[in-house]
Amino acid sequence: MYVCNCNGIRERQVRAAIEAGASRPVEIFRACDSKVQCARCVCDMRRMLDEERQALRFAAE
Ligand code: FES
Repeated sequence: MYVCNCNGIRERQVRAAIEAGASRPVEIFRACDSKVQCARCVCDMRRMLDEERQALRFAAE
């Protein structure tokens, strides 16, 4: 499934970027060798970042 249609960035690429240390959408774009265009995907990227943070917090408890 695509998260960013402008750049053809898939969900698994976003998750890989987050696992590699991306903590903001701009860092996800950088990891995917892309740049923000319409920015419609930024909310989804933020949601995925929040999910990862919550998962890490849950795992640490
Ligand atoms: S959908 Fe990602 S920049 Fe447009």
